[in-house]
Amino acid sequence: MAPEFKVTPWEVSGDVDYDMLVERFGTSRIDSTLKERLAKYGEPHTLLKRNVFYSHRDLPWLLDLYDKGQSFYLYTGRGPSGDTHLGHLMPWIFAKHLQDMFGATIYFQLTDDEKFLFRQDLELEDTRRMAFENALDFMALGFDPEKTRIILDTECIKTLYPLALKVSKKVTFSTARAVFGFDNSTNIGSIFYTSIQAAPCFLESEREGRTVPCLIPCGIDQDPHFRVARDVAPGLGYPKPALIHNKMFPGLEGGDKMSSSNPDATIYTTDNAKTVKRKVGKAFTGGCVSAEEQREKGGNPEICAVFKYNYFLFEEDDAKLDDLVSRCRSGDILCGECKGLLTAKINGFLEGHQRRREEAKAIMHEITLDGFEW
Ligand code: TRP
Repeated sequence: MAPEFKVTPWEVSGDVDYDMLVERFGTSRIDSTLKERLAKYGEPHTLLKRNVFYSHRDLPWLLDLYDKGQSFYLYTGRGPSGDTHLGHLMPWIFAKHLQDMFGATIYFQLTDDEKFLFRQDLELEDTRRMAFENALDFMALGFDPEKTRIILDTECIKTLYPLALKVSKKVTFSTARAVFGFDNSTNIGSIFYTSIQAAPCFLESEREGRTVPCLIPCGIDQDPHFRVARDVAPGLGYPKPALIHNKMFPGLEGGDKMSSSNPDATIYTTDNAKTVKRKVGKAFTGGCVSAEEQREKGGNPEICAVFKYNYFLFEEDDAKLDDLVSRCRSGDILCGECKGLLTAKINGFLEGHQRRREEAKAIMHEITLDGFEW
């Protein structure tokens, strides 16, 4: 029987089978040949080596053009519905790596309109305020301010709207319903919204008046939007955006996706050291009920949230990660100690991040698209 799971831009639930998702969505796996090719441009990122970024659309096409001297730009985004958590940072960390490796310009879209439309509990003032906070987290990762532009939908609508209109004219309600699962009770803003998320895919081509390829690093849950964007691109005379997809960042409770619906299983970038300690302390692990039993039988890293955190973001050294696995399996290290190690790593990271986040405030006005005021 097929495992039950759901992945849409607005909901991720169940036990996600990422291989099956590639089939369902019709994307391509990043295989060893493509990984080797990517390694030619610079030291491969851990997230690529460990298959967290594992799927793509048209990446070889983009690299072929790049090899011929045609540069591309990056585009990613965030729906500002709350504070930034570690899961949000993951694709951005990878995007920053891509910016460094390819010297690419990046557009970061903050969809205050989207979250207003899709969330009954949020007003435009809320999503706008959160957008600013989220943008600080983005810039804290060290993007080059000269090559980074922030799009806040409600502010940049003048630039986005002509593109969104062109897209929307080519997307029928029947397509939107099939791709996103809309029905007769869906508000009409939500139905139009995908054309706003598509707009930045074509922004550079439009501005330059020539073909400028676009690469989108994003969670695979966002793929449906770009499937639509890719379908309409040729008819509008734009290149199809290429994509590189990551798996969802796990929650501390053992679920497949870190989600703000469970704040205790979610580490926010603004959490203090004590809060992190408490949350990691409650994490779901692969340990046994008693220490005695675990010394004897060992733990199971495969199902352990603490291990996943090390794997995804907090232990980049492969040898150290392997060592952790074998010490866990043999019962040599118990969950308490392992949680302590992870807590220290997360707090070390957050300390620097929170400082850079404060520093970013000084440059926020320089990096807005078309110079909008926050
Ligand atoms: N819809 C995305 C979200 O809810 C935000 C977003 C807009 C985005 N444009 C993007 C994400 C491009 C990835 C890539 O988070």
